[in-house]
Amino acid sequence: MNVDNLMKNSKYILLTGGTGFIGRCLSQHLIDQGYHVTVLTRSGAKLSSGTEHLAYIAALADLQPRHWYGVINLAGEPLNKTRWSTAQKAQIISSRVAVTQRLNEWLRTLSTPPEVYISGSAVGWYGHWDDECLDEDSPSRAGFSNTLCAAWEAAAMAQADLASRLCIIRLGIVLGNAGGSLPAMLLPAKLGLGGPMGAGQQWWSWIHMEDVVRSINLLLENPQATGVFNLTAPNPVTQIEFARALGRQLHRPALLPLPGFMAKLMLGEFAEEVLLKGQRVKPKHLLDSGFTFNYPELPGALRQLL
Ligand SMILES: NC(=O)c1ccc[n+]([C@@H]2O[C@H](COP(=O)([O-])OP(=O)(O)OC[C@H]3O[C@@H](n4cnc5c(N)ncnc54)[C@H](OP(=O)(O)O)[C@@H]3O)[C@@H](O)[C@H]2O)c1
Repeated sequence: MNVDNLMKNSKYILLTGGTGFIGRCLSQHLIDQGYHVTVLTRSGAKLSSGTEHLAYIAALADLQPRHWYGVINLAGEPLNKTRWSTAQKAQIISSRVAVTQRLNEWLRTLSTPPEVYISGSAVGWYGHWDDECLDEDSPSRAGFSNTLCAAWEAAAMAQADLASRLCIIRLGIVLGNAGGSLPAMLLPAKLGLGGPMGAGQQWWSWIHMEDVVRSINLLLENPQATGVFNLTAPNPVTQIEFARALGRQLHRPALLPLPGFMAKLMLGEFAEEVLLKGQRVKPKHLLDSGFTFNYPELPGALRQLL
């Protein structure tokens, strides 16, 4: 551990969603950087499995009184857990808003506010667009993804003064091996079945997991970083470009189309919101902050992952 990391040794981070796909990679990255990470979890089995740098707690009331350098909020009901009934859509929203409100209540009890509060959101905030390039200054369009992300962001922003800096991270499709969308796409792609979904012209704004954790690290440590940040690679692609790049990496053709009506039949409204429509998002604020992507282009990201 170098001197920089030794200094971070005294820095404590509270993380919600730390047992999930992103949270697991993020906590490992932060621990490697010398931070102490405490994860809020509903999983009783995790509570006794901590280490010197990684602790699990069941409730915010269990937190030790100390200075918390940063709070990172990623928890929420998975979008693809089950078909989207009205009740399930309400649960997807309320799970995120409820955790955020509990965090806010706890933050209000602290005598010293954290340096930084990083709260999750997604590029779904922008709604559905065609080929327009969107950045953090672009407007949103109505739809379920926008309703969800707007409610989640508003819950965090309602208490923006509870930390010295508030950063909202609008995540794109996170590519990693241990969860998320990529493993689910691999089997059809390996069978040569990964072709255009619907029109195939919808934009997918993706990001490699390594760049997700590195960019969150930058937001933690850059005292100028505040506001909304798109966490997406600078080169989003259309869905058919994505399918072709994946096919090339696997040496399989990306020919067989999945008609939109079939996707909706199989996956319901989730298909419409997340797969068949999209948005072309650029990470303007991250680039302006000096962040350099390890994986700016999709072929390089897929090559590293596969
Ligand atoms: N992965 C992506 O491509 C992507 C893209 C855009 C946005 N996001 C958002 O970023 C966040 C993290 O993503 P992820 O892929 O790491 O998600 P994930 O693997 O599904 O993990 C989410 C975490 O949230 C907690 N959780 C699940 N259901 C919950 C509920 N009903 N109430 C409270 N907490 C609940 C779980 O922690 P415990 O079981 O330990 O409590 C879980 O570890 C999510 O909110 C997701 O919507 C992800």
